[in-house]
Amino acid sequence: MAEPQAIHLKDYLPPAYLVDDVALKFDLDDHATRVSARLKMRRHPQREAGLPLELFGTALRLTHIAIEGQPLDEGEYRLDAERLVIAKVPERFELTTEVIIDPAANTALEGLYRSSSMFCTQCEPEGFRRITYYPDRPDVMATFTTTVIGDRERLPVLLSNGNPIESGELPNGRHFVTWRDPFPKPSYLFALVAGTLEKVEDHFTTVSGRRVTLQIWVERENLDKTEFAMGALKRAMKWDEEAYGREYDLDLFMIVAVNDFNMGAMENKGLNIFNSSAVLANPATTVDANFQRVEGIVAHEYFHNWSGNRVTCRDWFQLALKEGFTVFRDQSFSADVNSAPVKRIEDVSVLRTMQFAEDAGPTAHPVRPESFIEISNFYTLTVYEKGAEIVRMLRQLLGAERFRAGADLYFSRFDGQAVRVEDFVSSMSEAGDVDLTRFMRWYAQAGTPVLEVEGEYDAEAQVYRLKVRQHTPATPGQPAERKLPLHLPLRLGLLDADGAAIPLWLDGESRGTDTVVELFEAEHEFRFERVPSAPVPSLLRGFSAPVKLRFPYDRGQLALLVKYDEDGFNRWDAGQRLALAAIEEAILALQAGVEPRLDPTLLDVFTHLLDTPSDDLAVLAEMLKLPSEAYIAGEQETIDIDAIHQARRFVTRALGEALEPRFRALFEANQSEVPYAPSFEQIAQRSLKNVALGYLCATGGEEALHLAQHQFEQDRNMTDVRAALTLLAHSDAHQLGDPAVKAFGERWAHDPLVMDQWFAIQVTRPQPDVLDRVRFLMRHPAFSIKNPNKVRALIGAFANLNRVNFHRLDGEGYRLVADVVIELNRLNPDIAARIVTPLTHFQRLDAERQSLMRAELERIRREPLSRNLFEVIEKALA
Ligand code: BES
Ligand code: ZN
Repeated sequence: MAEPQAIHLKDYLPPAYLVDDVALKFDLDDHATRVSARLKMRRHPQREAGLPLELFGTALRLTHIAIEGQPLDEGEYRLDAERLVIAKVPERFELTTEVIIDPAANTALEGLYRSSSMFCTQCEPEGFRRITYYPDRPDVMATFTTTVIGDRERLPVLLSNGNPIESGELPNGRHFVTWRDPFPKPSYLFALVAGTLEKVEDHFTTVSGRRVTLQIWVERENLDKTEFAMGALKRAMKWDEEAYGREYDLDLFMIVAVNDFNMGAMENKGLNIFNSSAVLANPATTVDANFQRVEGIVAHEYFHNWSGNRVTCRDWFQLALKEGFTVFRDQSFSADVNSAPVKRIEDVSVLRTMQFAEDAGPTAHPVRPESFIEISNFYTLTVYEKGAEIVRMLRQLLGAERFRAGADLYFSRFDGQAVRVEDFVSSMSEAGDVDLTRFMRWYAQAGTPVLEVEGEYDAEAQVYRLKVRQHTPATPGQPAERKLPLHLPLRLGLLDADGAAIPLWLDGESRGTDTVVELFEAEHEFRFERVPSAPVPSLLRGFSAPVKLRFPYDRGQLALLVKYDEDGFNRWDAGQRLALAAIEEAILALQAGVEPRLDPTLLDVFTHLLDTPSDDLAVLAEMLKLPSEAYIAGEQETIDIDAIHQARRFVTRALGEALEPRFRALFEANQSEVPYAPSFEQIAQRSLKNVALGYLCATGGEEALHLAQHQFEQDRNMTDVRAALTLLAHSDAHQLGDPAVKAFGERWAHDPLVMDQWFAIQVTRPQPDVLDRVRFLMRHPAFSIKNPNKVRALIGAFANLNRVNFHRLDGEGYRLVADVVIELNRLNPDIAARIVTPLTHFQRLDAERQSLMRAELERIRREPLSRNLFEVIEKALA
């Protein structure tokens, strides 16, 4: 097999031929679906005449091909495993083809495939070429008419993009529906669903008074899990009208829930397809965090109708154009309808633990990559989360009003077009009247920038000087000396020794108590005047840029910030820094073989938090959570897996013991009898109560475990049940944990989404017996390696969240994951390339683990690899 080749952004050329209109006909059959296509094509006005026509096609059996109705001779076209090339075509012509495909054999879940009793599609980024021969690239936009034919009994519901225009009966118990989508779209937004589905229906009247029908299609047993998503959809539609002036454009908007799906959900025009885990929710089966995830994803896919569909990407290098912007939009939406500070804390946590790790690892890449082997590998935290941070910085730099003007300009100027990141940024620059030339570097430069800040107080002059230096570490293909300074907003304030905000005077100008300074250069100095006493700076408020901030805070200063900073995010962040320092101290003690101690400053801060009435319980709950093992590891020079785990456990337990009565009181105070609602007030209360229960159980006290057991048995809602079950199952008290796990598994055996949670709880157990449990559960009837949700719940949760056991020194954790990766490489290359990620993060581990991990990667490399896995493994072993 030839080595897969990389594709480069600099080689971009517009397609030689465009498609204006497509008519598709699907005759559905498990193993032999017939797809007929009629494409109205013409030469691209900017490309020369006489070029060959190149169409993509994978795993298709061609049974007919004609131009202008004239069947082609074998010599007139060339076929290989990925392409159909016709040497000569007219300037304008109609191409008709017919192919046969095998949806039932499609385990990659790209193109047309079977899921449960349904047929469904996933075309982004390059799945459409598994359906028919087509110029499957986003800069080719066409209108689509789609006829779906299927068995009336087995496939009563036949859906595609746009509006239904015709339907009827056919011989042999078959029927058809024809759909017409009037908006030109790239092929990646095509969708088809067929099956035995039921719907819930609702309506939304747009600002201009159009009545849109909203439908959520599910299998019958899931009808009682659709209400929340429908509400979320209506909230999102309203929000996009208010926040961005964007109205929905078709008369019908459909969502379908499918069980087998590689990602969370997909924004196909008028027919969003969702992983059932990203849309189905009800209180008995769904935890608070998943309600919020459903709300965010429903909004995200809906928002793509403008940021992605109406204005789409020229090529896949521009992916962040739609994904970064749309993530920013869904984050803003969730912040507006829930608790804004908590949403920010959660988003930053994901960015700092997962995206920073990606940026520091072997697959680090710019938000707009310069080359790729397999584009599916670039739906990454960098493109999504860092991409969203870039848009957030633009909003910070321009201010809300000019940012909105920039968005308006972008949508109106580029409506109906396939465009580039430059088009978005220049709209912002034009509407905002700011120079964003240097800002563009954010899209080109990989790696997490580091800001090193120092403060110098001159008491006599009453001047405080902030010296800020920035640099970006080397990443693969981008040595440190080629990294350039970035343009970024640094939001900050100054506190005095009592925690009061100091009025800011910068360059003779009053700036209130909170200001934004802009960095462009490698070094800056900001001179604050009229500063009456030595201040404590509160830096990078709201996490105003996706950087690592270094400032030599002492613990007293951090405690001051936790207690008094006016910025909620920085109060939380100061608490995290303090907790990190306390854990790091415990790590050093454990490594030196001495008894660790609980840092008194941390204890003091926790005591303060628990004794001070708070008006934001949700933020308080976040403040009481210690940084995760993954985050701690990200901050270590060399990662000591076991010491991190032990130290974090030690600090948790010590806090639990020292503050037991307070945690007990917090637990009691946040019990509630009111019926469950996923409202943010209730979510905050439950979160606080369960955090308290966690500290109580960490003491190992029997009484605490009985509280958990009681909460489990009370069975009020899945949030409380799962929190309690996790504490029981992860404790050493087998006599309590085992029966609870068993009872839960039996009770929910019929519900795949609950079984996913059941799997994840068991495989994240910290005790060393867990490996056998993972292997055992892989043979459980509810597990299937073909179902991505199951793989994520069992293998993903184990490898990412059970660090001590994944990194066992006998290498068994690595071996297990590699075994699964090898099997998935054949079945589902996309999931294989995602699930292997933790095996590639070995750079800062000890030599022994590094060589064990490399050995597993080398074992994987000896297989005939998919493009997806080839690219990741080559980079990891480079
Ligand atoms: N367009 C993507 C879905 C997608 C990505 C399909 C890659 C195929 C390949 C969709 O809009 C998306 O980004 N979904 C996210 C959820 C979102 C809330 C970030 C997902 O599926 O995880
Ligand atoms: Zn998206």
